[in-house]
Amino acid sequence: ARLVVLVSGSGTNLQALLDAIAADPDGYGAEIVAVGADRDDIAGLERAERAGLPTFVRKVKDHASREEWDRALTEATAAYTPDLVISAGFMKILGKEFLARFGGRIVNTHPALLPSFPGARGVRDALAHGVKVTGCTVHFVDDGVDTGPIIAQGVVEVRDEDDEAALHERIKEVERSLLVEVVGRLARHGYRIEGRKVHVGE
Ligand code: GRF
Repeated sequence: ARLVVLVSGSGTNLQALLDAIAADPDGYGAEIVAVGADRDDIAGLERAERAGLPTFVRKVKDHASREEWDRALTEATAAYTPDLVISAGFMKILGKEFLARFGGRIVNTHPALLPSFPGARGVRDALAHGVKVTGCTVHFVDDGVDTGPIIAQGVVEVRDEDDEAALHERIKEVERSLLVEVVGRLARHGYRIEGRKVHVGE
């Protein structure tokens, strides 16, 4: 399967996918064909360039409207004819055109146990709420924010001494391996989405 990965930051989820594919290029069942971002000078793009991958950047502020940006991001992504789009720490809400083009084939990873703590501050919100366990969720993207059908989740315990950074780092350790496992399974076995249920490889 052809993957386009979208990033906005350090790109450690991207790196986990790159490492898994490099470790088993024939068996993993997917290849990353391009990496897209909504901003420049992020480690995620450096990781892509180091891996010799094509990259593209589409910044909202470079476009006359959010719709124009959405269209530009859609076209830039479509140029690589992806089978799956992986949003790995991509911090923008994908627009109508992107969803129309790639809906049902966009996988997102979120650092909380959805439906709890959706949005851009899931780790901070979980910590502030005082939960004893949190975790991460890999799900398909629908037209809501972090509301699409859940594929897999991983649990991470919250420690008394945790601050947001420490907890997020511990979540990311689980998240990276969960994303690698899920993307490989979807790529190798195929999947069906029925309402909120995801059937893999049946
Ligand atoms: C991940 O925890 C992702 O779920 C969240 O931001 C983080 C991105 O990390 N949205 P990285 O850029 O993959 O290192």
